[in-house]
Amino acid sequence: MNIIIIGATSGIGRALAKELASSGSLVGVTGRRLELLESLQQEISSPCYTSQFDVSNVEQSVSAFNELVSAMGTVDAVVINAGFGSIDEKLPLSQEMQTVSVNVAGFTTIANLAYKYFQEQGSGHIIGISSVAAVRGGPFMSYNASKAYVSSYLEGLACRKECRSGAITVTDVRPGFVDTPMAQGEGVFWVASPEKAAKQIYAAIRKKKRIVYITKRWRLIAAIIKLLPFCLYKRIIS
Ligand SMILES: NC(=O)c1ccc[n+]([C@@H]2O[C@H](COP(=O)([O-])OP(=O)(O)OC[C@H]3O[C@@H](n4cnc5c(N)ncnc54)[C@H](OP(=O)(O)O)[C@@H]3O)[C@@H](O)[C@H]2O)c1
Repeated sequence: MNIIIIGATSGIGRALAKELASSGSLVGVTGRRLELLESLQQEISSPCYTSQFDVSNVEQSVSAFNELVSAMGTVDAVVINAGFGSIDEKLPLSQEMQTVSVNVAGFTTIANLAYKYFQEQGSGHIIGISSVAAVRGGPFMSYNASKAYVSSYLEGLACRKECRSGAITVTDVRPGFVDTPMAQGEGVFWVASPEKAAKQIYAAIRKKKRIVYITKRWRLIAAIIKLLPFCLYKRIIS
């Protein structure tokens, strides 16, 4: 399988790139930090394509994505993993806007490009990394709202003709806590290693799952969170 991972310089994306490469996939990896892309390329012994770009820059993303696809020859799947989140209680506007730029605008750019490419090709698989946070609002509002956008977008995409017919597959990955710089703050629990998360994401890709929780037990938490009345939910979440 030829697969692009958007946001593979660290954390879940990096572990997933290694997992896929070790299973025989040809990977194309992206991110802003060039030195981390280069070190990843060296850690992966098989051929590996790299592309440095910022997903919040639409023009740059369009040309870099198209160049990466051409370099790889053909692409079977795209994982949209790049994400940003802040738990600064002061809610700096710059960080709120960065969350929206990366998780909403950047996600939309790549999802649109991947969908059009797969439409033309007649097959493909789009995997979006959302979060358990997608299921309800949270006190760091832009992050939960951005992930709700990702999951809703993916559901809409899965309703389109090519997806209903099975030509294009759409997978919504919803991690709980994974041990990366993004899982900050107190109160984190059931923290999975990036390697464990990567193995479960790879299994979900192979099985062409529509929605998958990482790790699986987070499905239960998501179901409970959805059902809680707001008066209880607001006490637990804060
Ligand atoms: N860790 C968790 O507990 C957790 C839970 C639920 C969901 N998630 C989601 O999982 C995904 C991966 O997060 P992670 O935990 O592995 O965190 P991470 O280690 O911080 O990885 C984030 C990745 O996104 C890339 N990225 C961020 N901003 C970007 C930009 N503007 N342009 C291009 N790439 C950008 C980063 O690359 P550069 O910095 O090199 O650009 C990096 O490779 C995110 O979507 C996150 O929301 C994580």
